[in-house]
Amino acid sequence: MKFFVDTADVKEIRELNELGLLDGVTTNPSLILKSGGNIAEVTKEICNIVKGPVSAEVVATEYAEMMREAEVLSKIADNICIKVPLTLDGLRACKAITSDGRQVNVTLCFSANQALLAAKAGATFISPFIGRIDDIGIDGMELIAEIRQIYNNYHFQTEILAASIRTVNHVKQAALIGADVATIPPATLKALVKHPLTDKGLESFLADWAKTGQKIG
Ligand code: E4P
Repeated sequence: MKFFVDTADVKEIRELNELGLLDGVTTNPSLILKSGGNIAEVTKEICNIVKGPVSAEVVATEYAEMMREAEVLSKIADNICIKVPLTLDGLRACKAITSDGRQVNVTLCFSANQALLAAKAGATFISPFIGRIDDIGIDGMELIAEIRQIYNNYHFQTEILAASIRTVNHVKQAALIGADVATIPPATLKALVKHPLTDKGLESFLADWAKTGQKIG
């Protein structure tokens, strides 16, 4: 499973990248707002840090303007992945951009049929929003399972990018179902390492080691 980080916070991205944990980054207009920076500058900085795909989202809702924005965003760096919304215009733009050999992440997916359309439009990634589905009282993970089955049935190459992840359990469940990628907020990504028995075990090993009075090397 690939790990993307879901943020436009350059400091967090740099830290996680140094740990060797990042395969890519996803941003969206709300995350750009939160970063407080200019979209072109922030995105360029992120692309210089992480080698994998960096999703940058168009904000136009009509095809022609989406294509113009995609052109501008593509020029930021070679590893830009254009993010388009799951609308008819977004799907049309997805087809055109991927036919040009560029990567597209189709975002705001809330149903299996939407994911089927994105795959038919040649999407590189489909982003089902697990947490936002959970928020309305429906199990978001069921959508990941449905998309996995549909994509397997027809051998679609579109990668399932589990998005709107809120908990470490979301990551585990998405991995068990076979999502190709999880885009994870920085705090949740770091929380994956935590286990009380790891902390307790390390503490007792270190205490015993101190009693030996030895040094390594
Ligand atoms: C995905 O690419 C989106 O940026 C993101 O996962 C949305 O998550 P949210 O529901 O926490 O805003």
